[in-house]
Amino acid sequence: MSIEKQIFHFLYLLIMKYFIFHFHIIYFRNITRSLPAGIVLYFFIEYGIVPTERMEKGELDGMEKKRSSFTGKIGFVFAAAGSAVGLGNLWRFPYLAAKYGGGIFLLVYVFLAVTFGFTLMVTEIAIGRKTRLSAAGAYAALHPKWGFLGKLTSLIPMIILPYYCVIGGWVMKYSATFLIGQGNNAAGDGFFTTFIAKPAEPVLWLSLFIALTAVVVLLGVEKGIEKVSKILMPVLVFLSIGIAVYTVTLPGAWEGVKYYITPDFHKFSPMTVLAALGQLFYSMSLAMGIMITYGSYMPSDANLEKSVRQIEWFDTGIALVSGLMIVPAVFVFTGGDESALQAGAGLMFQMLPKIFDSIPLGNVVGVVFFLLVFFAALTSAISLMETVVSILQDRFHRSRRGICLLVMAGCLLVALPSSFGYGIWDSVTILGLSILDFFDFLSNSVIMPVVALLTCIFVGYVIQPSSIAEEVKCSGRFRQEKSFALIMKYIAPVCILAILISSILNSLGIIKI
Ligand code: PHE
Repeated sequence: MSIEKQIFHFLYLLIMKYFIFHFHIIYFRNITRSLPAGIVLYFFIEYGIVPTERMEKGELDGMEKKRSSFTGKIGFVFAAAGSAVGLGNLWRFPYLAAKYGGGIFLLVYVFLAVTFGFTLMVTEIAIGRKTRLSAAGAYAALHPKWGFLGKLTSLIPMIILPYYCVIGGWVMKYSATFLIGQGNNAAGDGFFTTFIAKPAEPVLWLSLFIALTAVVVLLGVEKGIEKVSKILMPVLVFLSIGIAVYTVTLPGAWEGVKYYITPDFHKFSPMTVLAALGQLFYSMSLAMGIMITYGSYMPSDANLEKSVRQIEWFDTGIALVSGLMIVPAVFVFTGGDESALQAGAGLMFQMLPKIFDSIPLGNVVGVVFFLLVFFAALTSAISLMETVVSILQDRFHRSRRGICLLVMAGCLLVALPSSFGYGIWDSVTILGLSILDFFDFLSNSVIMPVVALLTCIFVGYVIQPSSIAEEVKCSGRFRQEKSFALIMKYIAPVCILAILISSILNSLGIIKI
């Protein structure tokens, strides 16, 4: 570089530095409302004495808070899909599909996903983006009398997170067992029940799972959640397609594939619709405040309608592929026994290890499968923990780090009873359910449908669907605006009421879903 250029460069940097310094001083003077204090604060921050994170959170004064954000549309879509794709897709969907007649269930599910699921997801994300708040504050910001709905919604992730981590810990244990080549042990009778009944080991895995989740949440929306989702989600797609291709080519698997994809209209009943609706809710992480929180981090220029479509297809696609992974494999193993598919929790932790033990390359398939489930559960747990953290942060305006640590400790503490409920506390039951099942029932079968119903009433009749449509249109066209309003006002409330009643009757053993 010539000498003139170097001098020019030097002067340029000097002037820039002066301006930056000048603006910083003005900025800090405005915060502290005094010039000397502003200069002191500037140097404190420049030399790392006051973490800038605390400044951004507006903790040092009443200045407007800068909310974290995903860097772009893809980051947002992967993170939200990471939340949606979880145990529900990989384990619950295949067995419901098998139970409710295979192909016909798939048709009903896809139809409901693109109508009903789409409407609710658009609503939640738009509420988050419009208010830039988590559920706890968002409803109150839209209408002062509806703050209670925010509080009720906030309860759900707080209830789900601890017990979800217990199951996450089990999945980690299975991944580790297969990784060290002991898949055949996991196939043994009693392996699962002996493991969950132990007092210490499940707690160890649970703690590890919570710690991993917390590390990602601690790293923040951009550097933690977005980065991890961008890596894990594509890996998840590859692994699931890989296993599905392998299992459908096993000898005898074709019968299972046929059973899974051919619609048998005789098997259609109102229960098919109800089961699909309940599954849709859980699978798309709706009515638990998660999509509101993620929406509050969504860039304003990202097309909302398109993003929701992509999340939806991601979620439904992985669910459909999971069926292809599991249904034919069970058919091969049991010689076409459909009832084997309905083993509930036992399907994943007891039946699948036996299947892996019986097929060629079973241990490798087992490692890949449980890693897949682990990644899916991790990204879902991250979304739950992030939702809890953001709710507490919006409420108490404390540092993210402090709140994360608090949530981590609280989560472990609340998770312990759920874990002990299968061992040393197995005599404790609530409404005849184990502790974990009770929390699951309370959140999924009671509070979630109530929240969803109230959300429909709130959007349909209080703030009106047009206010959501307005937010959607800020970032692009809203093609389904008309059907959106129709579903929100009339169809969704009726459907949700049906889910609520049926899931309570199901839990009380009066009907069977
Ligand atoms: N949507 C997730 C699934 O399909 C479940 C989930 C529930 C995720 C609660 C987050 C919170 O498994």
